[in-house]
Amino acid sequence: EQTLRALGERHRLYIGTAVDMAALNDANDPQYRALVGSEFSTVTAENVMKWESLEPTRGTYNWGPADQLIDFARQNRQLVRGHVLVWQNQLPSWLTSGVANGTIGTEELRGLLRNHITNVVTHFKGKIWQWDVVNEAVSDPWDSPPAIHLKGFWAQQLGAGYIADAFRWARAADSKALLFYNDYNIEAFGARDSSDKTQFVYDMVKQLRDNRVPIDGVGSQGHLGTQYGNYDAFAVADALNQFSSLGLATAFTEVDARSQMTAGVQAGDSNEINPRVQASAFNYSVLLQACLSNRHCLSFTVWGFTDKHSWVPTWFTNPPEGLATLYDENYQPKKAYQTVKADLVYA
Ligand code: G3I
Repeated sequence: EQTLRALGERHRLYIGTAVDMAALNDANDPQYRALVGSEFSTVTAENVMKWESLEPTRGTYNWGPADQLIDFARQNRQLVRGHVLVWQNQLPSWLTSGVANGTIGTEELRGLLRNHITNVVTHFKGKIWQWDVVNEAVSDPWDSPPAIHLKGFWAQQLGAGYIADAFRWARAADSKALLFYNDYNIEAFGARDSSDKTQFVYDMVKQLRDNRVPIDGVGSQGHLGTQYGNYDAFAVADALNQFSSLGLATAFTEVDARSQMTAGVQAGDSNEINPRVQASAFNYSVLLQACLSNRHCLSFTVWGFTDKHSWVPTWFTNPPEGLATLYDENYQPKKAYQTVKADLVYA
């Protein structure tokens, strides 16, 4: 039986997964570790390279879990996507509370961000293939104000210039790693809930390129849901082509396709007669085929590969959602896995 990573190699496409380090290290869950090693040619830390994990106490870095993933990747001949340098979530509380209570002012905060990027990129220098330098900086239609804007902690504190600064600081610390802007709901122009956002991100990265800011790629996360209807594969391919026409690499960085757990759909359900299970598979296929059609699409990474360890059921509880990954909770490959495999075989 061919693995996804072996089939991906035929197309020079890296197939990846986010890795939950607790699951990777769980001796009672050996299948998790085995499948990460056998099926994937690139890995991303689901949480352990985020600022709150790396520097839980100011000035004291905790590199252990991230270094473990780097070692695992080397042993398994995998490339590593670094996730994430600048994001408004999972920041250490010493940082957010310091800003909130006024003990960390703007200039100090800018210095802290610069040092963080420099320290982290330097620590992993030579070991990271692609860095998500800036993540999820752009608002959604449901945010306030509704007009699309740069959102979140960093834009509020430092203004729009933090984005260019972050890329420059990252490049200065490692001239070889590919530097990505990463976001969700940018899979297509003109699609439901994402038209303005995709265009906004396009305009933003174009301006960064025009200003000679060192950005190498755009990561399209690919968090899909079967209740939202399907993307048109041509529209997804078009978005990748528009980004790559700017001279940027592309990648799908966090693919999954979740379903509402309505009547008749249960956790552990992998029955391909179930229309949700089929729809989830179809969503994977649309993104993968678009990626295969774009020769600048470097990697196709899923955000967890088994329903046993997926962020979806913990995040979406009302109504409950799940069934988002390639394998069910017992590590049985689902229709989504077979579809991804078939796409790689027949592309
Ligand atoms: O580590 C603590 C643990 O000590 C504690 O006992 C437990 C109790 O809640 O929480 C643990 O932290 C959780 C962490 O995941 C590690 O499991 C956080 O509560 C939880 O909020 C966190 O969720 C992560 C989420 O990002 C938070 O922002 C998800 O695992 C992770 O999959 C998700 O990943 C993001 C990408 O980074 C960016 N794009 C969207 C994607 C999905 O939200």
